[in-house]
Parts: sequence; structure tokens; C-alpha cells
Amino acid sequence: MSQPEKTTLTGYGGWIPVNVAIYESFIQDLIQLSTTPREAHADHTAPVAKFEVVIKADPEMVDLWDQIFLQDLPKNKDSPKNKIVCFDQLLYMMDDVIVAPPRFYLDEEDKGEPIGVPLYLLFDLFSNTAAGHDLFRKQAFNAAMKDLLDAWGTYLMTPDSNKTLTDADDGWFSSAAIAVLEDKDRGKFNATYVCPDPDAVNRGFTSWDEFFTRKVQAEARPVDVPEDKTLIHNACESTVYRTQTGVKEHDQFWLKGQPYSVYDMLNRDSMAKIFIGGTVYQAFLSPQDYHRWHSPVDGTIIRTQVIPGTYYAVLPDAGAEVGDPDLKPGDPRGAMIRSQAWLTLSATRAIIYILADNPVIGLVAFIGVGMVEVSTCAVSVKSKQRVSVGDELGMFHFGGSSHALIFGPQVRVTFADNIKVNQHVKVKSIIAQASLQVRPVFGSSGYLVLGGS
Ligand SMILES: *[C@@H]1O[C@H](CO)[C@@H](O)[C@H](O)[C@H]1NC(C)=O
Ligand SMILES: *[C@@H]1O[C@H](CO)[C@@H](O)[C@H](O)[C@H]1NC(C)=O
Repeated sequence: MSQPEKTTLTGYGGWIPVNVAIYESFIQDLIQLSTTPREAHADHTAPVAKFEVVIKADPEMVDLWDQIFLQDLPKNKDSPKNKIVCFDQLLYMMDDVIVAPPRFYLDEEDKGEPIGVPLYLLFDLFSNTAAGHDLFRKQAFNAAMKDLLDAWGTYLMTPDSNKTLTDADDGWFSSAAIAVLEDKDRGKFNATYVCPDPDAVNRGFTSWDEFFTRKVQAEARPVDVPEDKTLIHNACESTVYRTQTGVKEHDQFWLKGQPYSVYDMLNRDSMAKIFIGGTVYQAFLSPQDYHRWHSPVDGTIIRTQVIPGTYYAVLPDAGAEVGDPDLKPGDPRGAMIRSQAWLTLSATRAIIYILADNPVIGLVAFIGVGMVEVSTCAVSVKSKQRVSVGDELGMFHFGGSSHALIFGPQVRVTFADNIKVNQHVKVKSIIAQASLQVRPVFGSSGYLVLGGS
């Protein structure tokens, strides 16, 4: 069988500031802010203090951090260099991140980029090293990280976290920020999302989390042609990453193309057998996207699961590829975004099995992949519950995320014309049509990778 081709990504979608000046000024500002407490050996915030104790009690984790600081070499002379010199400095920088909501940054020309996932920006260059790959996959590291992220998540539900819901330069309702929130086909903010007080600058959101998990207005995101039961609708407002047919039960994830491995994606569950030879569709959500999940079909919920996993582990690579329109070739930033297929089996994720009413579609697996800061994938449906297409299934709380749908081998999934890599697709719109598979399913040829080069 042939190897999947590379998926050429053409956008980092608000995950990392593409503008090096914004990326560096974010890091530089945190270094400056943390210098005085660091020199004074001030106490850490309680969540960071707890994180430090767990790491320092484990000689292997301490050693891996040491190696990360030695290995972190830029792969491109023009790309940002790591400015964080040691683990202790990193801890003081983390202190400042977890007591504040995500904010917006403006460049010299007043063009803005969101800092939607600030902790990821601290870990970005570290993650793209061999030692980072080892450390960030350790269960003890992820358990400590989850505690820290949960503490920040709790803060983001408090009224104090509304501080950046303003029209100031660092706010999410400045004209530069609104332009990002409305970019692509997302639509006017006030007319697209449910705003508790549309006339207020903060639109009536009482916390960062409430803003992040905002609801969409039904008229702004209708289910297109709900009566046609052969159609599959978009579960998340997202940017197309990849489709692949003929997926295998197991595959070798260290291979460059990151083929999907159904058994691992579904956390080694026996249900995986049902999907061998089937089709995977994956698309990612940007921090500025809408973050609730919706049923792609009419059906019945069979089972839901939340799988603890990694937060900052990526597949280390040689940086952005030739042809990347955002980053120069060899720029080591953003490996997380380039590792997305692999994240479907490693990251913290929620799995929802839906048995479609249409027997041709059969069982569908929805996977909500919480990447980086997302410590909570909140499922809001239960097994045996009936869902109609477009009904809410759950949501991501803060951060960045990706999602996948898996279909069995009996269904031929014909994707709509707009399902192309890097295309932003509205939630509940039509993504594909299902029909019975006519060719032999097993032993069929391998992959179809959209936009592969
Ligand atoms: C934040 O919430 C407080 C009330 O808890 C309110 O007085 C203040 O105006 C809000 N600020 C913003 C920017 O939303
Ligand atoms: C949304 O509502 C706010 C508050 O009334 C208003 O200032 C702003 O112009 C509106 N924005 C859009 C894009 O309609």
C-alpha cells in the first residue's frame, strides 16, 4: 500500500502569531515581567509551585528539562531563537500566564494576532526537540500539567478573567481583534453568536470561558438540507486538515505522513474493528473559532468516553516545509499544528459513537482532540440519547483543538467540493454524502490525501 502524501498546511490559524515580531514580543514581555520575582526568589503561584514539586521530585523529568534547554537549536537562522534560559525562568513566566486571560497583540502597523494559547507559545520550541517529545509524553508530566491547566481553567471562569473582553489594544473587541474573529466566512460577531448584551463592549460575557464557549445563533448556522439523510454535516466550525480512505487498524506513526491508526485513535477499544478500511475526516479549530460540537447525523448515542492524554507532545520535525506560505522553510515553530494526525491518538480527547439512523452510514465516531491548553473536553450527551443532526454534543473549553470523524468501510463518503485542505468550513454545513461502497473494501488501495504534494 502506498504511503500517504504530506498534507501541506497553509495556515497556522491563530495558533501561533505568524509575525515573528509579535511572537518575540510576547515572550520578551513575559521574561521582563518575571525578572523581578525571579531575582527575588519570590513564591510561585500555588498551581506552578505544585507543578515544580512534581517535576523536581523526578530525576528523569529534571534531566529531560536539562536536555531540552541544550537541544533547543533553531533550525532556520531567521526564525525566533529560544530566549528562555532555564526551567526556573520558565516557571516564573508560567506564573504570569495562569493568572490572566488570553489577550490580543498588535504589531507596528496595528495589525493584530491573537495569543489564544499562551502556554503553548512558551512550550512551542521545546516541544520540537527529542527530549521534549519524551518528556511531554510522560504520564506523570501530563498529570501535573492537567492540574495546572485545570487551575487556569478555573480562573478563566471567574469574573476577573473578563479583563481582556475590551476594545483596548490587548482586548478581544478592538477593531483589529474583531477583524480576526470575523475573518474568513465567520460573519459579523453580533449577528453570529449569542451575545448576552450585544450593546456592551464585552457583549455581556461575564468571563473569558463564557466568551470562548459562546453559542452560535441558529439562523447564522442552519443545518443545510436536514431532510436528506444521506448527507453528513460539519460537527465543528473548522479548517480542513485531511481526509483519508482505507484506514488501517494499526499504522506506523513515526512515518512522515502520519497515517491514521484507528485502533489507537479509539484508545484500543474493540469498537475500532468496525472502522477498519473506513474513512477519516479531520479538521482543526482556531482559538477564534466557535467551540461547540454538533451531531453530523440523525442517530443514537452509543457510548461516550474522555481519554486523558498529552498536551504539548508533538512529532519533532525539521520545521516548516518549502511552500509554507506563513513560515519560512525550516522555521521550527508550530510543530504541534504539523503533528495533527498523530495527535488523534496521543492527545487528550473525547470520543462519541453515534449510530446513524441511515443504515448506510452506520456507526460514526466523533473525536474531539484537545490540543495544548485544552484541558477540558466536555461531553454533553449520554448513551442511548437520540440526537438530530445539528444537536449539540459537547464543547472544548479554552485553547486550541482539532476533531475527526471516522466512518466504516461499508460507506462511500463523497466529500463536498469545498472540503479542501485549509478551507474554513462552517459548523452544520454539508461536508459529504454517503452511499453504499461498491468496490471491494478490504485490500483496496491506500490513501487519498487532499492537497498532498
Ligand atoms: C468585568 O466584570 C465586572 C463585574 O464583575 C464589571 O464591573 C466589569 O465592567 C467587567 N469588565 C469587562 C471588561 O467586561
Ligand atoms: C456590535 O455591538 C456593539 C455594541 O453595540 C457595537 O458597538 C458594534 O458596532 C456592533 N458590531 C457589529 C459588527 O455589528
